Amino acid sequence: MQKVIAIDGPSASGKSTLARMLADKLAIPCVNTGSMFRAVALAAHRAGVACADEEAVTGLLPGIRLEYRRNNRGEWDLALDGEFPGEALRSAEIAAGASRVAAYPAVREALKTLQRAMAGSQWLVMEGRDIGSVIFPEAKFKYFITASPLERARRRLAQEGDRAGSSLEAVASEIAARDEAD
Ligand code: DC
Repeated sequence: MQKVIAIDGPSASGKSTLARMLADKLAIPCVNTGSMFRAVALAAHRAGVACADEEAVTGLLPGIRLEYRRNNRGEWDLALDGEFPGEALRSAEIAAGASRVAAYPAVREALKTLQRAMAGSQWLVMEGRDIGSVIFPEAKFKYFITASPLERARRRLAQEGDRAGSSLEAVASEIAARDEAD
């Protein structure tokens, strides 16, 4: 048995909100694994490496430092190379890059190792598409949540303020494509 509350589900289904609320209530850490894939995409972007270049992205992995700790607002947050990228992870460009790098076996393997190392004697909430199935098959508690594509598109638009001009339908069809890729 692993002391993990696993929350799986597709993109923009509300996993992060639920995970945060649960972790706050239980006063335990909360890990958003989508942010980790986004951070790999951001690190590639900052290094001038295209997310489409699997070999180059793989080459960057040993130099990327990812840790979950509390930010200065007291929330559990992802630090990339010692700093919190925060909103820089939420842009549409980084989301698309994250989807690309998430398909690379070396990236999945590196993040799987990191994610598994986070569990131990203390309980934690971890959310992402494959947490209850691949990362922590022995998690004590597992939930799968989803929502309609249109509702998910609404949330995604609200999250990505820089895309206020995109239509709901366009975002919904992007989400459907992302589901397929994921
Ligand atoms: O949930 P999100 O949009 O922040 O996730 C960003 C990308 O990371 C998404 O395209 C799929 C990928 N991802 C994954 O493959 N496995 C996870 N556990 C979490 C995210």
